[in-house]
Amino acid sequence: MTDVFSRLRLPVFQAPMFLQSGPDMVVASCRAGIVGSFPSVNARSREDLQQWLTQITKSVTDTDAPWAMNVMMHRSNTRRMDDLALAREFRAPIVITALGSPRDAIEQVHSYGGLVFADVIDMALAAKAINAGVDGLVLVAAGAGGHTGQQSGFAFVEEVRRHFDGYVVLGGGISSGRGIRAAEVLGADFAYMGTRFIASDESMAQPDYKQMVVDSVGADIVCSDALTGVKANWLRDSLINAGYDPDKMPSGTDINVIEAAGDARRWRDVWSAGQGVGAVDKVLPIAAIVDQLDSEYHKACGS
Ligand SMILES: Cc1cc2nc3c(=O)[nH]c(=O)nc-3n(C[C@H](O)[C@H](O)[C@H](O)COP(=O)(O)O)c2cc1C
Repeated sequence: MTDVFSRLRLPVFQAPMFLQSGPDMVVASCRAGIVGSFPSVNARSREDLQQWLTQITKSVTDTDAPWAMNVMMHRSNTRRMDDLALAREFRAPIVITALGSPRDAIEQVHSYGGLVFADVIDMALAAKAINAGVDGLVLVAAGAGGHTGQQSGFAFVEEVRRHFDGYVVLGGGISSGRGIRAAEVLGADFAYMGTRFIASDESMAQPDYKQMVVDSVGADIVCSDALTGVKANWLRDSLINAGYDPDKMPSGTDINVIEAAGDARRWRDVWSAGQGVGAVDKVLPIAAIVDQLDSEYHKACGS
């Protein structure tokens, strides 16, 4: 495969988001010059996924940035092997694995020249993914939307770079062009940005959710394992609206982490975002967000 990343305008992945990212977001991101991605489980059935992939491959041209599909690898996702077969059929340029070993994805995706990136939250998971033979690692550091790591991005990239010279993507609270440049300076190749794109025209988030992202600042983000059994970042007001006391969150130790991770109810009723919300002031089309990031990035680069 030629270097698919040579077509990027900015070193950015629009990160996959459960219930929020679909084909419109992917296509708009790729056309704007950043990697567009979505979780395969956002398409409710194999047929829906086929339709989404048809739409994406028809709309994203060879001159656009590449797209990526995120596959939840845990065995509770009974569709995972079917979804990987579709990745192969549609020649997904990049597959991002989460919540399980990337091993099965590597065989499928390398067979047609695609790349596999594994989403990891700590060094132990990073080491396993490196051993499995991934092309890239997505380091989900502290402050990220969705299920979050706890390690500082500064420390995490440094540690990973001692063992891995493949692609590194850093996520967690990056919402500006300055942040993208900082990720590169730290040793990452790309920034992974989810929260910044919730408040976009192409996001499937409902309008109240987008507005809450616009209205919130870092202090409104509550990290808790009470909803899914693992630590995730949630918008304070959405916890209150769902009947929680954000200052007295129960412990989530009894929850089946993997099943709860895919449980739409929790994510539909309580809204997730990362600490980067403070840099989001408006709902905009993705093209406009990328223009803004581009001008901030070049200013930060001194170019
Ligand atoms: C609402 C929401 C849903 C998410 N769903 C997923 C998901 O389905 N799969 C996944 O690998 N990551 C998921 N994430 C995590 C993002 O892919 C990414 O790691 C994160 O958004 C990066 O941090 P940031 O939000 O601070 O930019 C989700 C994040 C958010 C905000």
